[in-house]
Amino acid sequence: MNWFEEGNKYLMPNYSRFPVSFERGEGVYLYDDKGKEYLDMLAGIAVNILGYNHPLITETICKQAKEIIHISNLFYIKPQIELAKRLVKSSVCDKAFFCNSGAEANEAAIKLVRKYFRDRGENRYEIITFKGGFHGRTLAALSATATPEYQKGFEPLVEGFTYAEFNNTDSVLENINEKTAAIMLEIIQGEGGVNPAEKDFLEEIQSICNERGILLVIDEVQTGIGRTGKLFAYQHFGLSPDIITLAKGLGGGIPIGAVLAKKEVADSFSPGTHGSTFGGNYLSTAVAKEIVDFVNREEFLNDVYRKGEYLKERLKLEFGYQVKGIGLMVGMELPEDMSVKEVVKKSLEHGLVVGMAGKNTLRFVPPLIINEEHIDEAVDILKKVIK
Ligand SMILES: Cc1ncc(COP(=O)(O)O)c(C=O)c1O
Repeated sequence: MNWFEEGNKYLMPNYSRFPVSFERGEGVYLYDDKGKEYLDMLAGIAVNILGYNHPLITETICKQAKEIIHISNLFYIKPQIELAKRLVKSSVCDKAFFCNSGAEANEAAIKLVRKYFRDRGENRYEIITFKGGFHGRTLAALSATATPEYQKGFEPLVEGFTYAEFNNTDSVLENINEKTAAIMLEIIQGEGGVNPAEKDFLEEIQSICNERGILLVIDEVQTGIGRTGKLFAYQHFGLSPDIITLAKGLGGGIPIGAVLAKKEVADSFSPGTHGSTFGGNYLSTAVAKEIVDFVNREEFLNDVYRKGEYLKERLKLEFGYQVKGIGLMVGMELPEDMSVKEVVKKSLEHGLVVGMAGKNTLRFVPPLIINEEHIDEAVDILKKVIK
């Protein structure tokens, strides 16, 4: 059987795939169907934070599957409540809603923003998002994603989004009017090229929100759950978001998304206003609860930060290109005459899985359980590929 031909025949052509098919994983290593080993610095695009075949995840899945996998939100789901409690107690938010992906979490956040102001009789619905940002592929999330290539062909988009320049407070101010309801941003733009927000910019955004009653929505889909060395990336900057969205690492590979919000905002989701059949089911929340407990330990988070610094330092010293990011969310900007896709392809041939972001950025979002020897190994493989 030629799986690549079969795949091209039976799957919709919306992804451009590399000709590799993985069969199993162990720790930070993947093995393809020919038995070849790969060191994984991509983690299913910042998802598999505990790597592969981690007993905490596999045992929780097996145990929970033998009890209940799914029951619907018509009933109280204990692990969902326990997960919500953990997330809100570790953040500035008070309540949680669960769904199944990052785009869904952002859809819910956008609806919540609109409803909050409608409930107060205010005609405020515009959300300022940022060029280079990424919030997902569903229609409202896509409308929030200010990248023309992603939006092209799907017009008309959802109304009510305006786009500001990232790290530019004046541009934000220019976008504000009496209809402005929220500012929505990533602390590090992931898909956009691993572009970190500047401290001053974030502090100014927080002040603008406070002064004008604008809600601050932080999309932590990629940065959240320990990726940057804090449970949430906003915590590096002392921000106080009204809404936080999560997905990716939260389930360690099991699909789950979440919206956290402060009480006065969260309460706008009264019964019947929003929902999800699968959202927050037993299986996904049982796993996510264990993951949050595992990640949310000071020594573990400090270690993630330290390993991120080590990775950045090694890349800078070895290649001399611009390296950016916080914790284990790292980008290396390649020179214009070097194709990032080629580097990713050649890395695969050499047994290294890395990602792409933005125009020409090589992206590293490895499992958080990676160690320094793995990082050395990745850099050694890259040296062969790049030099
Ligand atoms: C910051 C951010 N928001 C939202 C999304 C969309 O998440 P999903 O693909 O789970 O819908 C992504 C995915 O890459 C993301 O990085």
